[in-house]
Amino acid sequence: MAKAFRKAPQAIAADLAEKIENSYIDKVEPVGPYLNIFLNKKAVSRDILREISSEKDTFGESKIGNGQNIPIDMSSPNIAKPMSMGHLRSTVIGNSLANIIKKRGYQPVKINHLGDWGTQFGRLITAYKLWGDEDKVRANPIKELNELYIYFHEKIEENPELEEEGREWFRKLEAGDEEALELWHWFREESLKEFNLVYDRLGITFDSLNGEAFYNDKMDEVVDLLKEKDLLVEDQSAQVVRLDEYNLQPALIMKQDGATLYITRDLAAALYRKKEYDFEESLYVVGQDQIYHFNQLKAVLREMGYEWEEDIHHIIFGLISIDGAKMSTRRGKVVLLEDVLNQAVKRALVQINEKNPELANKEEVAEQVGVGAVVFHDLQHDRRNDFNFNLDEIVQFEGETGPYVQYTRARALSILNRAETESDTFETDGRYSLSDEYSWEIIKLLQSFDDALKRAHREYEPSIIAKHALSLSQAFNRFYSNVRVLDESPEKQSRLALVYAVALMLEEDLRILGVEAPDEM
Ligand code: ARG
Repeated sequence: MAKAFRKAPQAIAADLAEKIENSYIDKVEPVGPYLNIFLNKKAVSRDILREISSEKDTFGESKIGNGQNIPIDMSSPNIAKPMSMGHLRSTVIGNSLANIIKKRGYQPVKINHLGDWGTQFGRLITAYKLWGDEDKVRANPIKELNELYIYFHEKIEENPELEEEGREWFRKLEAGDEEALELWHWFREESLKEFNLVYDRLGITFDSLNGEAFYNDKMDEVVDLLKEKDLLVEDQSAQVVRLDEYNLQPALIMKQDGATLYITRDLAAALYRKKEYDFEESLYVVGQDQIYHFNQLKAVLREMGYEWEEDIHHIIFGLISIDGAKMSTRRGKVVLLEDVLNQAVKRALVQINEKNPELANKEEVAEQVGVGAVVFHDLQHDRRNDFNFNLDEIVQFEGETGPYVQYTRARALSILNRAETESDTFETDGRYSLSDEYSWEIIKLLQSFDDALKRAHREYEPSIIAKHALSLSQAFNRFYSNVRVLDESPEKQSRLALVYAVALMLEEDLRILGVEAPDEM
């Protein structure tokens, strides 16, 4: 400005101080080349409280996204295998991003890109035909199938021709052989039933279950396009796309026997999603161990001339472990997601029995608190971080936990219940400002929600919302222990309106994270 106006910064500051006038601003003081702006706390508080109480769960909504589709590839477990903690992360991060994006006016499309195709199913069919027992599989599908698969790999050492047999079954599967397809269908259905138990507990739904198999009849097109563009070359009798320019290994598109690969199906999926959803951005919530895969995928698309590969974002996340144990299905030590959730719920019930033994629907609340604790914990840290967790620490009503946020909201509701007002809306009384510093801290946090949403989208980071919920809970608890809300005073009505706004805001933060909010706990 000094350059543009040919004026000293101090003089510009002094001019501006006189010109800035706004009902939210009390006074503006120039200090050298700076301006100190003093907000009118009374007006700011009054208006934000009014806005929240009238807009409720639509508070913070924006139309910026203009209804544009954003596909979110999330969860995506592999059938016939147990769902891992990594898949839980992908599920809850994806779900929360969908809620954040929706709030910004976009249309999220939640896609469960099931791992339901690939050479492993040829091996699984082989194993089932050799050693499988129908009744056992029916009774305990994932456990049985997973064991068959592991057994196959043990046997292959002494029996290398098994490998060939597995390949043959996958070839049949890709060619539409009836028996192969029938078994595959059955494995897929049974697996989905088990996955749905977890999704139901998390309250998570999908818009599409188009997994890898969905692209079976869409890969020829990819291969043809690659040939047309002269990108496919033969390498040790397989078909590859060279990516030397990108400093990447060649992408293996088709094996010698014509079998397709994970990346072939992802190429078909990327093209399909672009055509189907005409996206401006397309997200893939997948662990960081697949960075190389997504780099190759994007590089091949670039080679094909699709500039929109830039709109594909791999939303990585770190590894998680319980009490130090790595969670991996390959290493043998499988920590079942269901067990983790059950354990969490059990601990929640213990806490409830201690704090609120009279609570009517204890079991239901314990489920909300236990599952909520696991989900919240998963989302509260920068998603890239690796972390270890301990169930005893995260299912606590105090500290930086999900139950703490839930508990704070329930506490706010109980204050409102005790306030004997004629109506059950809590309108602020504009005549009396909330003068204490504790209230002002809360007001600032309510005010920052919009910005938190914006950043959470820009950085694809649900932890920003989780941190907002934690800060607000802490500010509220400080307020509550220092300010006597229910005492008769001119400010009483405004204070109740503040408590009401906090309850609404915490509920909304939790909803975005996919965590339930019990009214009492
Ligand atoms: N099924 C894969 C796995 O469990 C994740 C799939 C991720 N999505 C994708 N489009 N590649 O590792």
